[in-house]
Amino acid sequence: MTDAAGEGVRLQKVLARAGFGSRRTCDDLIAAGRVRVDGAVAVLGRRVDAETALILVDGAPVGVRPGLVYYLLNKPVGVVTTADDPQGRPVVVGLVPDEPRVFPVGRLDLDTEGLLLLTNDGEIANRITHPSYGVEKEYVVHVEGSPTRSVLRQLREGVELDDGVTAPARVTPVEPNVLRLVIHEGRNRQVRRMCDAVGHPVIRLVRTRIGPLADRSIRPGTWRHLETDELRALERAVADGA
Ligand code: URA
Repeated sequence: MTDAAGEGVRLQKVLARAGFGSRRTCDDLIAAGRVRVDGAVAVLGRRVDAETALILVDGAPVGVRPGLVYYLLNKPVGVVTTADDPQGRPVVVGLVPDEPRVFPVGRLDLDTEGLLLLTNDGEIANRITHPSYGVEKEYVVHVEGSPTRSVLRQLREGVELDDGVTAPARVTPVEPNVLRLVIHEGRNRQVRRMCDAVGHPVIRLVRTRIGPLADRSIRPGTWRHLETDELRALERAVADGA
């Protein structure tokens, strides 16, 4: 039973746990008709089976599994990819709701901008960052100078770094000093080190895609929930690892 008088968890409680604000705020969302459960607009007092209900707020799913949230953030320059910075600089978790507690999936440097996933789903986070799953990350890279074709070939074939040769990358010139680079290793400062190694230091680095996740409309410093299709696509992308 999942009706108002029946069993299950109150919808406002599920929403509050998923980071939509206080229970009062969540009641306001429900009252405004912004919440749907299994396809129907929810009413105040609604109870749900949090294991199975498909709950959407403004059309976006609220954790496919109960309590799990997935935020796609556009990280601005100057924000540290951590939960807590001893030097007191702004941190990425400060840009998303406090509850439930989430952590960044992988890392973008202080000076790197672009897409960063934050979640409390440890399983998917491990898979996205583990090299054996080979999830692609795409970057737009502004570099000093204009890389020649031979430089592009070096980047594509692999560059000798102090921790070994990089795996083949996909590299497309966008402008004389701007490249689109797709890698799937995720070593520390990898793109910057690759570009340094071929004599074209990075001026600006923007991550534009994580596996199937790409969205150019998220303003810097803001985030949105993953949509159901995106989460499914992400799950498919990490389904077959080594
Ligand atoms: N490569 C880098 O050099 N920096 C990042 O932040 C991400 C990839």
